[in-house]
Amino acid sequence: MLIAQVTDTHVRAGGKLAYRTVDSAAKLEACVAHLNAMSPRPDIVLLTGDLVDFGRPEEYHALRRILAPLAMPVYAIPGNHDERGAMREAFADHAYLPRDGEFLHYVLEDYPVRLIGLDTTVPGEPGGLLCARRLAWLEERLDAAPERPTVLFMHHPPFLTGLANMDWQNCRNGEALGALVKRHRQVIRILCGHVHRAIQINWYGVTASIAPSPSHSCAFDLNADAAHDFVLEPPTCEVHYWREGAGLISHLTFIGAYGGRHPFYDASGKLID
Ligand SMILES: [Fe+2]
Repeated sequence: MLIAQVTDTHVRAGGKLAYRTVDSAAKLEACVAHLNAMSPRPDIVLLTGDLVDFGRPEEYHALRRILAPLAMPVYAIPGNHDERGAMREAFADHAYLPRDGEFLHYVLEDYPVRLIGLDTTVPGEPGGLLCARRLAWLEERLDAAPERPTVLFMHHPPFLTGLANMDWQNCRNGEALGALVKRHRQVIRILCGHVHRAIQINWYGVTASIAPSPSHSCAFDLNADAAHDFVLEPPTCEVHYWREGAGLISHLTFIGAYGGRHPFYDASGKLID
C-alpha cells in the first residue's frame, strides 16, 4: 500500500498569495498533478493539516476545487491554520469525519495498516495539544486492536525539533502521547506536519516523522534566536510504502521536472562514460 502525505498546503482563495509571496494554490495544483502522474499511484492521500491559510470558507472551496482531480481518496485532519467548523462544512461529503463532537479525529480500518487521524488543534492558538479527552479517545481505539499495525497522523509534532522558531508551538503535552505509544507497541509510525521540513526521530521507541510542504519551507536555523522566516525550497510531498513484514518505508518526492529522467547505462548495458 502506498500512502501519500501532503501537508501544510496553506491554500488561499481568489489568487491571493500566502504571506504576499507564495502561490500556495498553484503549488498544490502541481502536487495534485504530481501524485496523479505517479506510477504506481498512491492508494490514498493524507492531508496532515494547515490545509488552508486562514480557515475561511472560500479557502476551503478553493482547496476542494484543486483536490477534485485527485484519483485517490483523501483523508484530512486540521492544523492550526484550519477552522474546524468551516472545514467540516467543506468536507461534509467525507464520511470518515465525525458529524458531531468537538474533535476531527477518526480511525481508518479498511486498509492493510490501521490509520488513526488525530486533531491536535486548539482554536485561536498556533500550538497544539492532546487533551485528556483526546488521549482517552485514542487509548480506547488503540486498546481495541492491539495486534493491528497502526500509523498515527497528526499536525503538531509531539517532539522538539531543535528549530526554536517552531518548537514553542509544537504539541505541548507530547510526553502523554509518548507514554501511550509505549504501552501500545502496534504503533509503528507517527506522521506529522506543521514544521514545513523533513525531520525524523526515534521517539519512545517508534519512528516519528515530519513531512515537508509542497508550498513553502520554514527556514533551517538551529540558533536559539532563529527568526520566524520561511524559504522557497523545492516543493515536496512524501510517499510511505507499507508492506506486511517490512513496515513503513518513507520516500521524499520532489514536485517538478528537474531536467527529467536520464539512464545510467547505455543500450549495451555499459555504464555511460
Ligand atoms: Fe503550516
